[in-house]
Amino acid sequence: MNTVLDLPATLSFRLKHETNDQHERMHALMEQGKPFESRERYARFVAAQYLFQQDVEHLFDDARIQAAVPDLAVRGRVEAAIADMKDLDRAIPQEPLATAHVAMPEALGWLYVSEGSTLGAAFLLKQVQQTLGLDANFGARNLAAYPEGRALVWRRFVAALDSDAISEKEHDAVLAGANAAYDRFGDLLQRYLLAA
Ligand code: HEM
Repeated sequence: MNTVLDLPATLSFRLKHETNDQHERMHALMEQGKPFESRERYARFVAAQYLFQQDVEHLFDDARIQAAVPDLAVRGRVEAAIADMKDLDRAIPQEPLATAHVAMPEALGWLYVSEGSTLGAAFLLKQVQQTLGLDANFGARNLAAYPEGRALVWRRFVAALDSDAISEKEHDAVLAGANAAYDRFGDLLQRYLLAA
């Protein structure tokens, strides 16, 4: 509940606050994984990003997520991650999808984690430019802003989260999807970046 007005918390508010520990865990993993130490280490991060983005874009085929997020066509970074791995001479990893059995409303939680990560990506892009000389046209396309800009596309996503398309009784399931998505990205970072 929103304690000031005694209104139910919006879905975007709940996602941000109730998954905060998971976000902190991502920071910790990124720090330990040192993806900016070398192009070789950074390419490991891109491999994890690619597999995660593939999990997320698989969900775009669901008519219910298309209805909930009408601008899906501008989202997702699979193609960017593939191009980056080619730039970096990294083999494309093969793994079964983690979302083969995920559907709405959990699917929206997965998309939340992916879309939110475009905000933090602004900082990662700066670091990768400064330390490894990569940019939004070579090697770091997966961290680039969407053509319309990060903030605008994010605000539109938040508006979709908080619209009437998602009923309040579905919110817990969206939260569960977000937690599962963070777990997946954490697992990918552990295996592709840290365990090496
Ligand atoms: C070192 C790596 C990272 C940094 C520095 C970082 C930083 C940030 C920053 C600065 C924001 C904006 C916060 C705000 O405007 O209130 C943000 C938001 C977010 N990040 Fe990260 N992030 C990182 C990694 C990740 C990863 C790996 C994921 C998920 C795979 C992720 C998911 C999110 C999400 C979902 C949000 C939106 C939070 C909200 O609901 O407002 N971040 N991040």
